[in-house]
Amino acid sequence: MPDFSGKHGLIVGVANKRSISWAIAQAAAGQGARLALTYPSERLEENVRELAAQLENPLVLPCDVGSDQQIAALAASIDADFGGLDFCVHGAGFAPAEALKNPFVDTSRESFRIALDISAYSLIGLSRAVAPLMEKRGGGSILTLTFIGSDRVFPNYNVMGVAKAALESSVRYLAADLGPKNIRVNAISAGAIKTLASSGISGLSTMLQAYRERSPLRRGVDTAEVADAAAFLLSPAARGITGEILMVDSGFHTVGI
Ligand SMILES: NC(=O)c1ccc[n+]([C@@H]2O[C@H](COP(=O)([O-])OP(=O)(O)OC[C@H]3O[C@@H](n4cnc5c(N)ncnc54)[C@H](O)[C@@H]3O)[C@@H](O)[C@H]2O)c1
Repeated sequence: MPDFSGKHGLIVGVANKRSISWAIAQAAAGQGARLALTYPSERLEENVRELAAQLENPLVLPCDVGSDQQIAALAASIDADFGGLDFCVHGAGFAPAEALKNPFVDTSRESFRIALDISAYSLIGLSRAVAPLMEKRGGGSILTLTFIGSDRVFPNYNVMGVAKAALESSVRYLAADLGPKNIRVNAISAGAIKTLASSGISGLSTMLQAYRERSPLRRGVDTAEVADAAAFLLSPAARGITGEILMVDSGFHTVGI
């Protein structure tokens, strides 16, 4: 595992102990990173504070990624405390429930706007806010989380698939913009995992079953496996990698039928 001693990281997207972002936080903190964790609303604040209490000297800050002001305030607080930033995990995603159960053709303009804003645009806003903090460290690594529904149709994934396609394209454009500052931008495309967010997609258990039956490894992935790959991409071990979508999905994406 990479060594994160003396490194500072921001983790956006911890909701509970099942969150992929929480597994990444544990992996990075376990190797010495000092972390800032965020919560998007008062409803989730207590959850995040309870988990953060397991970490060494964490910062816990509010950030609804739908708000430019909150993103700016987050970056300012981190700068004041950490004096820069080495890595950032963007694990926020959201689509209105009706868009994940009605036929895709019925997606409303408002659901589309919200899904794309919270799940894709937020990476751009967050990257813009943390880039100056990373420049202070001579560079950094930004990582987001995506799903193969960006490219292929999964029942009920619907507008989240479109949002993930926008997110993955944003990874490449951000990598091009920020590369000259030695800031890398990558994504992990994780296999389906039961979490708070994925439980909102009806038919998740059918999806999980498909991973067990059809993926080359004949099983799904867990959050710790995603976190190990994330730690690699966040660390200098991946210093030559940017604009990449790394599949951590038991090889599911390689299979035709
Ligand atoms: N679970 C899976 O099967 C799977 C697979 C591939 C990719 N992903 C992606 O991984 C990421 C993390 O999801 P997860 O499965 O760990 O579920 P999760 O529910 O634990 O995490 C989603 C997070 O998004 C946050 N969020 C939602 N709206 C927000 C807002 N306005 N501002 C700030 N944060 C907001 C939630 O608070 C939550 O912490 C998501 O982008 C998801 O699409 C999940």
